[in-house]
Order: sequence, then structure tokens, then C-alpha cells
Amino acid sequence: MRRWSSMVWMLGSAAAACCAALTVTLAHGGAPEPAAGALRWSAEEKAVLASLSLQRLPPVPVDPSNTVERLPAAVELGRRLFNDARLSRNGAVSCASCHDPAQQFQDGLPVSQGVGTGTRRAMPIVGAGYGPWLFWDGRKDSLWSQALGPLEDAVEHGTNRTRVAHVVQGHHRQRYEALFGAMPQLGGLPADASPQGSAAEQVAWAAIEARRRQDLSRVFANVGKAIAAYEKTLQHAPTRLDAYVEAVLRGDAAAGGLLRRDEARGLRLFIGKAQCVSCHNGPLMSDQQFHNTGVPPRDVARPDRGRAAATAKVLGDEFNCLGPFSDARPEQCQELRFMLSDDPALEGAFKTPGLRGVAGRPPYMHAGQFATLEQVVRHYVAAPHAAVGHSELTHRHAGAAAGTHAERGPITLTDAEVADLVRFFDTLNADPKSNPNPGVAHERR
Ligand code: HEC
Ligand code: HEC
Repeated sequence: MRRWSSMVWMLGSAAAACCAALTVTLAHGGAPEPAAGALRWSAEEKAVLASLSLQRLPPVPVDPSNTVERLPAAVELGRRLFNDARLSRNGAVSCASCHDPAQQFQDGLPVSQGVGTGTRRAMPIVGAGYGPWLFWDGRKDSLWSQALGPLEDAVEHGTNRTRVAHVVQGHHRQRYEALFGAMPQLGGLPADASPQGSAAEQVAWAAIEARRRQDLSRVFANVGKAIAAYEKTLQHAPTRLDAYVEAVLRGDAAAGGLLRRDEARGLRLFIGKAQCVSCHNGPLMSDQQFHNTGVPPRDVARPDRGRAAATAKVLGDEFNCLGPFSDARPEQCQELRFMLSDDPALEGAFKTPGLRGVAGRPPYMHAGQFATLEQVVRHYVAAPHAAVGHSELTHRHAGAAAGTHAERGPITLTDAEVADLVRFFDTLNADPKSNPNPGVAHERR
């Protein structure tokens, strides 16, 4: 949780020296920044740059708990279910309502609006299959079990297992049966029943015979597995940063033309002095871990405990990797079996979000607490104390000897450096003309 790569630490000091000199050249008063051609990168910096390139992104990991995830028929069924508003109580909410393909698969709102209002910010879906934990707090351990959460959530789709089974039977039966075999008989079932729903739905659920309950839950799980198959096909488009990094690594003189000077300085800060890359690392710019960074809670009276409140949920989830609807053998569920759950650092910790395309999706943080990227960067510099738990930005690693990588100083940036770092995010925008997700751009909500 609080381990900082020694290389990053070293780069931090190197970059501090370099950038002190660079900031002197900043008094340009709004004139367009020249290209970054003159910027030189050390061998260590080049290694970090390479690690951020989309070209280094490995294929999305295989999920042993979902055997249909690679089948084209599952992808197609999943795409249809993702866009199907019949899977909601009011017939108006689909996954795509909050994960709009035209808006990087999110909704642009501070907290989401389904059949009711939620308490957290919608997350973009592209790349979600790379991490072991889903949601801001990681309360799900696979994409398919994640998809089941919003369906039965009272403020999102607000539907339930019997309704979902009826929609599948009425509108997706052929595709479903081709993948998963015959649908169970649904005759005589209550219209609304679920172990998660309202008191009435829970009573109705308990009254259903155990074997039929199992059948309904299996249909429900299969809906999640098809949706996950679709989600796993979604890809990031390369950005200017990727083109720049590859050109720098090739020693291509044209590299300089790809980034403006302020953007390149921001990049140097990101991987160096500002220490961002210690958590926002790899091609997706996320370590997929949970950190408390002292983001102010939306509701001060009831601060969100984040990861600390989620580990019991994922362990108790009937749709987890070890559960009866998983296709995995127990030994394939390493993440869940060895999950960290008693570390005080999980209190108030949230999943590090990926940063590709981030400039195009304000507001920021788990409940949209910040309207602009400048506010985000200033938050890291201010490093306030956390409302729950301890912020890693203010908290030095206990027992770390002076000078070791585990000890990390505060992030100090001048106003000019804050501005450079903010400009850097523009290099992470995908070219709107390149769409690696065929078919989604024109999908209606
Ligand atoms: C009402 C809006 C809403 C709807 C409808 C909705 N989501 Fe979400 N989605 C959210 C919010 C909000 C979060 C973050 C919630 C949290 O962390 O507690 C989220 C998180 C996710 C994540 C986690 C991404 C990650 O990186 O961890 C995935 C995947 C996802 N949703 C897929 C879906 C699918 C599939 C559906 C349809 C079955 C769906 N969502 C329906 C709002 C919505
Ligand atoms: C200790 C790990 C850590 C470090 C260091 C770190 N971040 Fe973050 N970052 C996170 C976490 C965790 C979140 C989500 C926090 C939340 O919502 O409560 C986040 C959120 C963000 C977001 C919002 C993204 C979104 O989609 O809402 C941006 C932008 C961001 N960080 C940029 C940076 C920059 C720039 C730096 C360097 C100055 C940095 N981060 C340093 C862990 C870190």
C-alpha cells in the first residue's frame, strides 16, 4: 500500500534539479508554447516513459471464473444487455445511461443518477478488466459479478432477479440459450423477488423453492458473464503521449513536434518530482490498488470508508470467485483468497483511477469532489488530513529509515509547475477520429 519505488524516488530528485531550471523559462505570458524537441530524457526516465505507453499494455487478463468471456456470441449478447433499458424498474435505465459510449463510458455527473441518486461517481469501463477489484472500493472481484450490483441496486437499475429472468426470456432467449443452455421454467414465479431487494422482494424470494432460486441466480450470473464479455472487448485509443513516447524511444527527431513544451515539462513532473507515477503507473496509469489520499468526503457527517468497508462484502458475495456461480477452481481465486483485509491503510482508501482521457471527464474523484484538474493537482500539494483513516500524502511510512524509498516527502510544486502538470493531461486525450470500439459510437442510449 505504501511502498514507493526507489527508482521513482531517485527520479524525483533528478527531476527536481532539472525542472527548477526549466521553470525559469516560463515567463512567456500566454504565447503558444514551442514544441518539446529540446527536452532530453535520461535512461531511467525513458524506462518510466516506456512503461506508460499503450503499446506496452498486455492483453486483458483471462478471468477463470467466466468461461464464456471470449466467445463472440457472449460479446454480442452482452452488448445488447448493456444497452437494454428493460433491465430497470422504470424501463428507462441501462448500463449505457451512466456509462455512455459517447462520453468515455461515464456520465459526467458528480454522483450518478439512475432510478434514484447515488453517492459515488460513475467510472469509465474501458480497461476495467485489468484490475482484480471493481468499483471505487473494490467490493467486487470480477467484471461479471460487478455487473450484477447495479441491476439490483435500488437507485441504479432497481430491478431484481425474477424480472431480469423474464426480460432475458422475453427478449434475448435465443442468444441466451445458444450460450448457456435452456432457460429454466419461469411459470408461477412472483413478478418481483430478490434476496437483495425491498422487504417484500425478500419475502417473495424466500418463498421460492431453493432449486428454482438457484436457477434464477444462475440466469442472473450468466447475464453478468455476457455483459463482462462485451466490456472486455472495449479498448483505449492511442494518444499523443503514446506517439511521443514511442518516438522518443526510437530516437526519432520528430518526437519534439508531438508535445508542447509545457506538456513535456508536465510529463517530467508526473514521472518525477510530483510523484504521481508512484500510484498512477503502467499504460493505464493505475496501480489498481487502494490508497487514502485525503479527498474530502461528500457527506462530512457520514464519511465514505472506501476499501475498509468493502472487503467483508466481497468475501460474503455469493457471486465471488469462490462462489457457486463461478467457473473457477478455488486455486484460481488467488486474489480473493489472499486479499488484504485487516490493514488500517484501507480505511478511507479508494482505487487509483486510470488517467487516460481524464481531461475529458470532469468532475473528479470518487464522488466528483473536484471540478477541475487544477483543483486535483492543488489537492496533492495541499495534502489535507483525511476525514477517515490517514492520508498517504501526509503520512510517512512508519519505521522507514531516513533516505530509503519508503520515506517520501510532501509534493511541492510551484504555480507554474501546477500549470504544466495540468497541461500534461491533454496528451492523454484520444484522437476523436480513432475509435477502437467499433459499433459503440452510434449506439443509442
Ligand atoms: C445509475 C448509474 C449507473 C448504472 C445504471 C450503472 N452504473 Fe456502473 N457505475 C456507476 C457508479 C456510480 C460506479 C461506481 C460505484 C462505486 O464505486 O460504488 C460504477 C462502476 C462501474 C464499474 C467499475 C469500473 C472499475 O474500474 O472498477 C463497472 C465495470 C460498471 N460500473 C459497469 C456497469 C454495468 C455493466 C452496468 C449495467 C448492468 C452498470 N455499470 C450500470 C454508475 C452506474
Ligand atoms: C498515493 C497514491 C497516489 C498518488 C501519489 C497520486 N494519486 Fe492521483 N489518485 C489516487 C487515488 C486513490 C485517486 C482516487 C481518490 C478518490 O477518489 O478518493 C486518485 C485520483 C486522481 C485523479 C482523478 C481521476 C478521476 O477520474 O477522478 C487525478 C486526475 C489524479 N489522481 C492525478 C494525480 C496526479 C497529477 C498526481 C501527482 C501530483 C497523483 N494523482 C498522485 C492515487 C494517487
